Amino acid sequence: MIPGLSLVRHEQPDRHAVADAMHVMDRAFDPVYGEAWTAGQLAGVMTMPGTWLTIASVDAAPLGFALVRSVLDECELLLLAVDPPWRGRGAGRDLLHHSLSTARSRGITSMNLEVRASNLAVALYEKAGFEYVHRRPGYYRGKDGQLHDALSFRIDMLL
Ligand SMILES: CC(C)(COP(=O)(O)OP(=O)(O)OC[C@H]1O[C@@H](n2cnc3c(N)ncnc32)[C@H](O)[C@@H]1OP(=O)(O)O)[C@@H](O)C(=O)NCCC(=O)NCCS
Repeated sequence: MIPGLSLVRHEQPDRHAVADAMHVMDRAFDPVYGEAWTAGQLAGVMTMPGTWLTIASVDAAPLGFALVRSVLDECELLLLAVDPPWRGRGAGRDLLHHSLSTARSRGITSMNLEVRASNLAVALYEKAGFEYVHRRPGYYRGKDGQLHDALSFRIDMLL
């Protein structure tokens, strides 16, 4: 639990929100795995209806974000990240739960996600109730050309 943590949702393209997310993105993702998005990719997905970006901050300083895209009654968690100095204090879990409750409040019945098999975030998703669906061999290509399997997870919010 981080005192003073604020979670703000953005549903329209917003260059300040994209800048806040990029501040975290550039620090949170290990370049070895090639998982980080560019500002252009993030701004592009924000133009799609049903997409929302939640920024976590303390005293207006961004420390994490979650990006979700929904289509009809399904949604996908596209990205979740917390700035390394702020990790292990519940911000990732708060962003995930906030994304799930936003989805529920919109009548969305399931959330899907893909995560690198070796990512410690797998424990976070399992604790939140996500269930393993399948493995995609070699789904991510790292900067060094090495391939990494992805695991697909899903939570049924009607259960
Ligand atoms: C995954 C990530 C968002 C977690 O953020 P966080 O704020 O540190 O997570 P929390 O403190 O809320 O931890 C929640 C749970 O995640 C798991 N977890 C997080 N970091 C962990 C670690 N280093 N080792 C083991 N488990 C870990 C634990 O199950 C933890 O629950 P617990 O505190 O009850 O043990 C963060 O590590 C991150 O930004 N990673 C890089 C980006 C990334 O890979 N995102 C996921 C794929 S898009």
